[in-house]
Amino acid sequence: MSVTRSVILGCGCYLPSRVLTNEELAHTVDTSDEWIVQRTGIHERRIAATGELTSDLALHAAQAALAHAKVDAQSIDLIVLATSTPDNTFPATAVSVQAGLGITHGAAFDLQAVCSGFVYGLATIDGLLRGGMFKRALLIGAETFSRILDWTDRTTCVLFGDGAGAVVMEAQEQPGNASDRGLLTTHLRSDGRHKQKLYVDGGPSSTGTVGHLRMEGREVFRHAVAMITDVVEDAFKATGYTAADIDWFVPHQANKRIIDGSAHKLGIDPGKIVITVDRHGNTSAASIPLALCDAITDRRIKRGDLILLEAMGGGFTWGAALVRW
Ligand code: UT7
Repeated sequence: MSVTRSVILGCGCYLPSRVLTNEELAHTVDTSDEWIVQRTGIHERRIAATGELTSDLALHAAQAALAHAKVDAQSIDLIVLATSTPDNTFPATAVSVQAGLGITHGAAFDLQAVCSGFVYGLATIDGLLRGGMFKRALLIGAETFSRILDWTDRTTCVLFGDGAGAVVMEAQEQPGNASDRGLLTTHLRSDGRHKQKLYVDGGPSSTGTVGHLRMEGREVFRHAVAMITDVVEDAFKATGYTAADIDWFVPHQANKRIIDGSAHKLGIDPGKIVITVDRHGNTSAASIPLALCDAITDRRIKRGDLILLEAMGGGFTWGAALVRW
């Protein structure tokens, strides 16, 4: 019996041109290239130019995704933008992207689940597409974390970067068997007891300021691998697939040690891991689509491949998805 699935038609990404290296950071805070590479795997990150907004990054990524999918912007009836660094408190940054694309129909809204935003977005759009409310959607992860970093705090400022990635998704009838393309399963979790471990110390209703990112890095690290592997096991259980069936593992890119530790615990072959954290740092909601684009652009990911996505971040929020490309 055929089933409706949310199929990913194409992806696109955008990185600001300014590269900030570990060596440069070592001139402004008490750190070193050696420490950053050894503890995180990060070599460099991108920084948005003055006046370059999250919506600008998002629009570039959206246009690239539409071109890759070979679809017209006017065929999009839903835009979901996952971000924790919106242009303004409101309106949603998604409506700026909508206007930038010249779309005046359908709906556009922002989604806030910090580093898990892209996986949360996949699940949200999947529900809306399969429910029949919309036909073709853009999911964008876009961030300008450079604007909320405390550049005097070496424990956080070396970890994050700016960037955007997007996918075009469409509701399609699939045969209802193992060859089905699209999203096969999504699993979302959160636990607000951990909200003080990774947060921004400002906001419209608390301080009336934007605030800066604060993190108990060691505590986040301590929870990350267990939470990631737990929710991935849920995705395996729901589909019957195992680590051996995965063609590509495209994780949230926060720290190479977390990624390698999760893959090891899950029994995923290291050769199947897509890593971009070395070049982008942690770009929060943008990190998964940036990594996905990388492996699609260089043709590692091919039609029919089974891809495992996962993320974990502030809240804590975490989640996993299985997609057949
Ligand atoms: O997207 C999800 C959100 N974030 C994450 O997933 C990040 C999770 N956490 C991590 O990735 C790691 O905990 C960090 C990379 C943040 C830190 O690595 P760690 O191995 O957990 O180091 P640590 O926090 O235990 O710090 C070790 C030492 C400390 O010095 P003492 O107390 O041992 O004297 C830090 O003060 O390293 C020091 N340190 C640094 N040294 C040089 C902290 N930051 C730096 C730095 N450069 N940038």
